Amino acid sequence: MNTFSKNCISIETPNAMLVLAKRGDIWAYAHIGSRAGKPEDYALLSASRPCGDSANGQATAETYPAFGSSRPNGRESFANRHGAIQVRHSDGDIATDWRCAAAREAAAPKGASHVEIELRDRKHKNFRATQHFLAWDDCDVFETWIDIANGEKGPVAITRMDSFCLHATGLAERFHIMSIAGNWGDEANVSESEIPRGQETTIGARSGVRDAWENNPALFLSFGDRATETTGRVLGGALCWSGTWEISAQHTYTHELRLRAGAANISGPYVLDAGKTITLPKFVFTWSDTGKGAASRALHRWARSHLMPHPGLRDILLNSWEGAYFDFDEKTLTDMMDGTKELGGEQFVVDDGWFGRGKFARDNDVVGLGDWVVNEKKLPRGMGFLAKEANKRGLKFGLWFEPEMANTESELIHGHPDWCLRVDGRNLRNGRGATQVVLDMTNPDVRNAVFDMMDKVIRETKNLAYIKWDANCDINNLGSPYLGPEKQGNLWFDYTQGVYSLFARLRAAHPGIVFQACSSGGAHADFGFLTHADEFWGSDNSCAQQRVFIQWGEGQFYPASAIAAHVTAVPNHQTRRMASLKYRFDVAMSGRLGFELHPKNMTKEEISIAKRGVEVYKRLRPVVQQGDLYRLASPYETDHAALLFVSADKRHAVAFVYGLGRRCNDGRPEPLRLAGLDPERRYLVKEIDISSEDQAAHPHVPVSGAKVGGAALAGAGLVFNLCPGDDSAVIEFTATR
Ligand code: GLA
Repeated sequence: MNTFSKNCISIETPNAMLVLAKRGDIWAYAHIGSRAGKPEDYALLSASRPCGDSANGQATAETYPAFGSSRPNGRESFANRHGAIQVRHSDGDIATDWRCAAAREAAAPKGASHVEIELRDRKHKNFRATQHFLAWDDCDVFETWIDIANGEKGPVAITRMDSFCLHATGLAERFHIMSIAGNWGDEANVSESEIPRGQETTIGARSGVRDAWENNPALFLSFGDRATETTGRVLGGALCWSGTWEISAQHTYTHELRLRAGAANISGPYVLDAGKTITLPKFVFTWSDTGKGAASRALHRWARSHLMPHPGLRDILLNSWEGAYFDFDEKTLTDMMDGTKELGGEQFVVDDGWFGRGKFARDNDVVGLGDWVVNEKKLPRGMGFLAKEANKRGLKFGLWFEPEMANTESELIHGHPDWCLRVDGRNLRNGRGATQVVLDMTNPDVRNAVFDMMDKVIRETKNLAYIKWDANCDINNLGSPYLGPEKQGNLWFDYTQGVYSLFARLRAAHPGIVFQACSSGGAHADFGFLTHADEFWGSDNSCAQQRVFIQWGEGQFYPASAIAAHVTAVPNHQTRRMASLKYRFDVAMSGRLGFELHPKNMTKEEISIAKRGVEVYKRLRPVVQQGDLYRLASPYETDHAALLFVSADKRHAVAFVYGLGRRCNDGRPEPLRLAGLDPERRYLVKEIDISSEDQAAHPHVPVSGAKVGGAALAGAGLVFNLCPGDDSAVIEFTATR
């Protein structure tokens, strides 16, 4: 819903509103918050609020401030020295000064409204920006993005190119920022801190490829006291971008908040040729007056309904990696398929090691990347045979690729040394296997070659249902042979655009294929990749105890259906830790469940536990993958973690409780207060213990089997016990009326 008047635009969802007010000939933010009252009132009140500090050189809350803009401040005027956009125009002028040429409603998909604001530089009238705000009614999420058009006679050099710059005045005097950060095997640690008065907190990533790892491009910003799961005013936002990026939140001395987010030019300006337009990545955000839980649920709903390509439930798959690594032949894989079938799985995925020819046959991580041809020595009957074998068993078939990379030891790089990022006269800096390099995705020839190879394999395989898209190296060689000396600063942005365009082309040619975004584990866990992929690999660390933390962190922003979580063997290959099969299952079941082991190494008893687990997951899958998530107990604050998923109609729910090394006899955990259930309904409470043949066993939940009202379950809470050590409980709630 939008309301338009001469001096006020309000972009609204059922629960949130963004009000813009006209100040002279620009538009400025007047209000962001929950939807209440008349937009004009907010515009009026915001006009009476002092805004900006001349000391800092930025004095307005304009919607897309530019470096060098000139704004009256009382009787004086001065030049802005911040700005979301900073350029050097074709004549060397380093200032930009917008005026709004038009503001209008624009075409929007069903269920959304869309406002466009057209900006023109006062001097270079053909240097233009179009700012978009699109609001989704069903999830209270706003998308915003910018097109920059260079209508000047020569190239323009863009130094800063943020997608979003919110300037909020009068909302609070304290601000907190929460984000997730990590490393290989240790993704998505949650950290939160106050932004001190007068200071700026910045998160970002500079890998060029693995840019959701070190920091993830998403945040919660609390206005006032630190928001909890259920209380406090929060802006939840994320940049939909998988390349270098930066998000910063500044708490000015005058208690204003400037939030900026965008792709980062980390090696000099982006050169935009005359006549060209660049579209900057989307920033998505939501507002909650009731804490972080509601903000998470809004982003989850938006991603499921309006971003990820395939609606519907995700398959339970077995991936070959931890069960076979590079060491397999046809028989190994068909045995694994038999096992997958026996466990009740629905899909089989061949991971790394199936490609490369002759001396480049991929039997280790030193050779073969980039040569997307079947290794006929290992798999003489090709991929078509394997896919048929999988289909014969009623399984779908999937395959691993690492499209962005090559080994120097490959036919591809031997034939085209200039197809990887490299700098003339400098030694190559190699990644994994001491031979891995990143392909020059800015070059259309490279993208075409990779597309052709992948397309051929996909066609020959027939019925390929799933691709795991991996990426295991940073941009270490800081140069593109394709871009030429003037445009090396474009590398970071154009690389990611190149990756997206390859992805889009593959999807258009093969629309049915579900993609997993993987990058040394969770380094592609971002909404940029989830525009093309339906899920990401949560982490190469499959240790259940550590996955509790990793999935907790990722789930702050990304929906459970997108977090691939696999049951693996013990001792765990990354941490050597032991955990019961039930615990491993219970943890993986709160994401997109899969396996990563060789079923032939499982005992009979383990097979029967796993079969029960798969059956239970099939029943719970709609709630976990499509329901709303309520976080009940944080692993950072207690010795356990608890999550509740509730179906949209609130008739079905499931809680997962994971012990994290409780001490013996250390009191009782606080009951689970089940916010999120319908207080008016009664629920049959049932513990699901897959380790027991007797499905009525309920060692952790004394009232299992009873019918209890939603209001009491939320108020008094459900009493549960956990044994010392790594113990877990799964509790299902079914509405009885
Ligand atoms: C990366 C991925 C793993 C696996 C290996 C294969 O590390 O994150 O899941 O696919 O590559 O080489």
